[in-house]
Amino acid sequence: MEGEKALRSKILLMCIFSIAIFSLSEDRFCLCAEENTQVEGEKEEKSELAKLMKEIDKNYKATEEISGYYNYKEKEWKIIGDASVNLINLCKIALKKFARPDDEKYQKLNRMMLEESEKMHEVYERREQVGALEDAQWQVRRLRQTCALCHKHLGIHLYPNLYPGHKDWGVK
Ligand code: HEC
Repeated sequence: MEGEKALRSKILLMCIFSIAIFSLSEDRFCLCAEENTQVEGEKEEKSELAKLMKEIDKNYKATEEISGYYNYKEKEWKIIGDASVNLINLCKIALKKFARPDDEKYQKLNRMMLEESEKMHEVYERREQVGALEDAQWQVRRLRQTCALCHKHLGIHLYPNLYPGHKDWGVK
């Protein structure tokens, strides 16, 4: 009687054990397969998007470099004018080619980046008016905030290694 009971519980244990092993190995198998395809898909987007980001960065930095000036002459205004046109085009590519429909916040920040670039160009177009300099500088900050917010949203830590000496990105 005792022996039979022990045998039964042994069999039961073995059953549980093998079920556990089976489901574990199957799980692992599934996860691996999924991960592989995902990583490959992302990699392609990553390098393309990273290239686009580099261009965005270049134009952003051009406006940022002169944002401490007390006066913009024709040369500085040209930088604002050119950079904002480039940014508008680059942002449109970002919106179209690298949309993330499943991430509402990402989409919103992507659109915001375009809007702030467009506003920067509007300021350029009224550069003769009083206050245009301050408005242009304000737009640089507004634009920067969209960068920082999106990178923060995604957990991308570009700062401060990318922008040495920069502490105030408007986002903690
Ligand atoms: C809507 C989201 C979003 C916004 C807005 C955004 N970025 Fe990015 N940024 C990304 C993502 C995503 C990556 C990672 C790209 C990758 O490596 O695949 C990235 C990466 C970068 C990189 C690193 C590129 C590299 O070589 O790896 C730089 C530089 C950069 N962004 C600059 C900027 C600047 C400057 C702005 C604002 C003018 C900005 N980004 C706005 C999403 C955004």
